[in-house]
Amino acid sequence: MKNLILLSLISQIIFSQTSDVTFSKDISPIIYGKCTSCHREGESGQIPFTSYLEVASMGEMIKVVTQSNYMPPWPPDPEYTPHSLLDERFLTDDEKNLIVEWVDNGLLQGNPELEAELPTTIEGSVIGEPDYVFQMNEAYFIEGNNMDDYRVFVFPTGFTEDTYIKSIEFRPDNREAVHHAIIMADVTGSGASNDEESPDVLGYESFGGFSLDGVSPTEYVFLAGYAPGMNPIVWNGELGMKIPAGADILCQVHYAPSSVDEWDQSSINIFTKPASEVEREVQMKMWLRLDLDIPANTQTTVEACLNFHPVIPYLDFFGPEPQSFNGYTFTGEQHCSLPEDWSLLGILPHSHLMGKSWEVYAETPDGNNIPIIKIPDWDFDWQGFYYPEYMQHIPAGSIIKGIATYDNTSDQNMSWGELTTDEMFFCPIYYVPYQDGDENIYLGIDNEINQIEEKSHKISVFPNPSSDFIEVQLKPYHNEFLKVDILDSKGRIIKVPFDYNIKTESNNLKINIKDLDLGVYFLQIYLDNIIVSESFVKNNQR
Ligand code: HEC
Repeated sequence: MKNLILLSLISQIIFSQTSDVTFSKDISPIIYGKCTSCHREGESGQIPFTSYLEVASMGEMIKVVTQSNYMPPWPPDPEYTPHSLLDERFLTDDEKNLIVEWVDNGLLQGNPELEAELPTTIEGSVIGEPDYVFQMNEAYFIEGNNMDDYRVFVFPTGFTEDTYIKSIEFRPDNREAVHHAIIMADVTGSGASNDEESPDVLGYESFGGFSLDGVSPTEYVFLAGYAPGMNPIVWNGELGMKIPAGADILCQVHYAPSSVDEWDQSSINIFTKPASEVEREVQMKMWLRLDLDIPANTQTTVEACLNFHPVIPYLDFFGPEPQSFNGYTFTGEQHCSLPEDWSLLGILPHSHLMGKSWEVYAETPDGNNIPIIKIPDWDFDWQGFYYPEYMQHIPAGSIIKGIATYDNTSDQNMSWGELTTDEMFFCPIYYVPYQDGDENIYLGIDNEINQIEEKSHKISVFPNPSSDFIEVQLKPYHNEFLKVDILDSKGRIIKVPFDYNIKTESNNLKINIKDLDLGVYFLQIYLDNIIVSESFVKNNQR
């Protein structure tokens, strides 16, 4: 089989020499940069893409899955919001076209010396040293029966007082088996009693949520989500999230279907923060429609506005007909006007298997629309929290609207519930009350200092690209740098050339980059309270 592929590769190479797109120069940076983190030994993507031959032998398929936007998995529409989301992962049209050209013109390898460096795997935490690590007591057995397995694991925290966290990080043990995970804090003990019902097996089964009987979803405290390749959210600066005293942490893990038996013993890292440092506690607003009604054999569009009704703030009833719920009769009145200015920090749109799409936006009082998120092809298997790169300001008086569509091809009416055979319109939102300047606060990793994009300062880096040294000049001239960092394309600090105050007489810093792997980097210079950054490329040309 391999020989056949090789033969066909060679014949394609011989017969089409028209394009100068090569794997080494053009394709390897795309594949290694956007695919290999999941497509390598021991990761969820299964097919490895770590060499020319591995990638070229899958060329046609790569063309198909990138054209259809099936890969890399990134459900949100990147064009919808003017800003980026954290860890956004998609191919640009140029990148997709390059792949097509490369495949159609015979999968040329080109000069192997120009091939991009393989990404380094991160062992351990991407954040640092955790304060608490909760690991599953024993390995959980995943039967190789080609079925999905949705399982909730319960981790008692033993926290005797409210604990504030900077971050919570899911650490998959068996990365091939774990598809995604969602984490919440449960103060009702209801998750733990579910678990006790089957003392001989770890955790309990639950498909769409956490199956907490009698617990209103508004009591859920969502802490985080996990999908491969996405970094955990870090609440920087004054932000922090509360895990209430006595809470259990519930972690719902989706194990993808497999034909072989697997084991998994994943863990959760918790990074705490002293309560005194948390000036702004991350708030969560639950948004759900328990009155969901999706008739058999129909396509249904559910439109809702985020509701601040004083009695049942999470329900909203469009339409003029009075409706009863929990003994209260709603008369179609709406309380959808946002009571205060918000800085939106994250959002988790969620439906089940009939879900087709999601869109959330805010209509401001002056008639503008602020796009928040759009998921054109809802895919239950690729869900998670999405965070804007910078806090997103939503002015008071805005109406936050959500539109979710469902395709019910079955003969049964669907309503709210947690089973595969139920549906959901569910969308928790993280926010804090807005403060001046919030839109400049970056939500990504590696950033304890509020990063203010300083337009008046500019760094020039030359030569760029370079293989051995770069020279750095800041304009206008500044006589003191607090620190200089080099970050990789994911924003992780990988080199700290100057970790101390530098007086710059000539305003010209020379930095040795010989030890960097080939690739794109960011140079950051810290001045008093601002950070200025510029990108540069390390290549291997002399
Ligand atoms: C976040 C992890 C992740 C990233 C990033 C990723 N993949 Fe995948 N890929 C998967 C998983 C998981 C599967 C298995 C199918 C599934 O679960 O959807 C897969 C399946 C595939 C398949 C097989 C499709 C099939 O129908 O069997 C191809 C081809 C593929 N990916 C190509 C790519 C390419 C090309 C990129 C980069 C442009 C990429 N993937 C990026 C996780 C990833």
